[in-house]
Amino acid sequence: MRKITVVGAGNVGATAAQRLAEMELAREVVMIDVAEGIPEGKALDQWESAPVEGFDTRVSGSASYDLAEGSEIFIVTAGVARKPGMSRDDLLKTNAGIVASVSREIARVSPEAIIIMVSNPLDVMTYVAMKESGFPKERVIGMAGVLDTARYRSFIAMELDCSVEDIQALVLGGHGDTMVPLVSYTSVSGIPLTQLLSQERIDALIERTRKGGAEIVGYLKTGSAYYAPSSAAVQMAEAIAKDKRRILPCAAYLEGEYGHEGIYLGVPCKLGAGGLKEILEVELTEEERAALDQSAEAVRSTIAKLD
Ligand code: 2OP
Repeated sequence: MRKITVVGAGNVGATAAQRLAEMELAREVVMIDVAEGIPEGKALDQWESAPVEGFDTRVSGSASYDLAEGSEIFIVTAGVARKPGMSRDDLLKTNAGIVASVSREIARVSPEAIIIMVSNPLDVMTYVAMKESGFPKERVIGMAGVLDTARYRSFIAMELDCSVEDIQALVLGGHGDTMVPLVSYTSVSGIPLTQLLSQERIDALIERTRKGGAEIVGYLKTGSAYYAPSSAAVQMAEAIAKDKRRILPCAAYLEGEYGHEGIYLGVPCKLGAGGLKEILEVELTEEERAALDQSAEAVRSTIAKLD
């Protein structure tokens, strides 16, 4: 790829830019932020690490979207983060305004780009980005499922004292307390999780996954997680940049899949060149389907608060 832009040079955005550069996913990585000097300074600092790290991706930063012109992918992290005690929905009004104007700027400078949304409340901000950019659903995707699944996998690995690489899992639904970790699709090197852990332990890990974001906010106090969120967003960008056709849980615009339409919700997606190539519809137990419906309802009611 020629150029990938990260909007927002805060913790998530700057860490994502660094990962993109170190992985050489594009010839150029651009950071855009309204905070004067921050995108320029962080970008220059990252570029100065290139001789030591050994990457040739040029990193630059600006407050102006003109620098982002012609980007193939935008990772949008702009907006305010949670403070302790806040839910992701508390960020709704402030971040909706920010994401709307960011999306219009993206459409202006790079009308063919793909947007990976990271700002919260995630499912609703992805919806705002699609509406405001005017891009088709294939080119506007939200990052939540990869992060939530990574947290779930990391907790399972700790519990079993085994490699994270051997844990396969899927977390669907909205990025919030109603997310839906699918136990029926969780396995360790093909062994169903239910053969390795008691239902009680599995329930505890699911609960910790649901509250995974809040657990980090509780520690940091002045901000929210950024190492794992940036890893997750960059994994989606990699799937697109390299046309890997990875199957990853992402927030996608539903038009009847899983019985819902007109909302973004976390579902298994195939990501490759051009963005979203396909939504996979998998079988769910009755309980899982009910949980997914409840999650969809939560997203729908937050969207309703927008207008
Ligand atoms: C998280 O889950 C902030 O939503 C983000 O950490």
